[in-house]
Amino acid sequence: MEKRQELYRGKAKTVYTTDDPAYLVMHYRDDTSAFDGAKIAQLAMKGETNNRFNAFIMEQLAAAGVGTHFVKLLNERESLVKNLKMIPIECVVRNVVAGSMAKRLGLSEGMPLVNPVFEFFYKSDALHDPMVNDYHILALGWASAADIEAMKTLTFKVNGVLKPLFAQAGLTLVDYKLEFGREAAKPQAPLLLGDEFTPDGCRLWDSSSQEKMDKDRFRRDLGNVIEAYREVGRRIGVPL
Ligand code: TMP
Ligand code: ASP
Repeated sequence: MEKRQELYRGKAKTVYTTDDPAYLVMHYRDDTSAFDGAKIAQLAMKGETNNRFNAFIMEQLAAAGVGTHFVKLLNERESLVKNLKMIPIECVVRNVVAGSMAKRLGLSEGMPLVNPVFEFFYKSDALHDPMVNDYHILALGWASAADIEAMKTLTFKVNGVLKPLFAQAGLTLVDYKLEFGREAAKPQAPLLLGDEFTPDGCRLWDSSSQEKMDKDRFRRDLGNVIEAYREVGRRIGVPL
């Protein structure tokens, strides 16, 4: 597979076309952003850390029957992925109250939940990813009713795989964000998990000390951001 031209430069990754339109190269940069791109920094080793972290998680999910776009690691900062047509929706599951849920409802972070909470957000930095529900998604044609159900089912299935995986490593999976799409040339094919799963898009707390081990370290200027990502990786068995 030959890497060709830059297709899209996101906030933390750059996507390249290849000589096969069904595949893309995802390049993990050291860039870190928060608050919809308002806060940006370069953190040494972030690209290779997240590339390997994501590969490990995607392999665990695939082994558990969650289809993903991930094909293989290409080098320290790049992975080969299937070219997906993405649904412009972020799917969030929360096991513990934190972040925007705490703020929106005036709750304290760390409050346990009787059952996990599922939320949809419309992917738009300009609008600060507003929360939407099934009706908005259907009415605006962003996804079909079947895809809405599939996104919920798959996002909860990921919880069933990753919550115990992190728990065994002494980490609480507080919440996480997933994005889905399907292979561009296969409109009838099942939805696949796209984008990434790294500490950039989830919250992980040390189960004993409650120390934050995710991108909140960057958002809240707590320091040792990539050290924490790598500590998480080492604990779950990512070869870093
Ligand atoms: P929130 O508490 O800010 O709504 O975020 C919930 C989870 O989703 C948290 O783990 C961070 C992740 N997330 C992203 O990765 N990107 C985003 O744009 C948003 C809104 C959330
Ligand atoms: N992912 C968003 C950004 O990079 C929001 C966040 O992580 O705070 O700006």
